[in-house]
Amino acid sequence: MSDPVRASDTPFAIEVEEGAAYFWCSCGQSGTQPFCDGSHKGSAFTPLRYDATESKTVYFCGCKATKNQPLCDGSHKAGPA
Ligand code: FES
Repeated sequence: MSDPVRASDTPFAIEVEEGAAYFWCSCGQSGTQPFCDGSHKGSAFTPLRYDATESKTVYFCGCKATKNQPLCDGSHKAGPA
């Protein structure tokens, strides 16, 4: 499997709503980061569902290198691979 596109050098701070579902883009090609817009079609990537259990600010990974998908784990600080 090829590597995802590095969509952003920093995470996306998103206000999520309790009970709502979000679909995080894992391929990095979406034009509506950090969420899937269907651009992964034809690739080996699929979006990852995130169910918000409470309303709060969530930091979604933008570099797509996190080991804690779909959330930022600080991997973006390591720079491009
Ligand atoms: S557009 Fe990237 S996973 Fe769907």
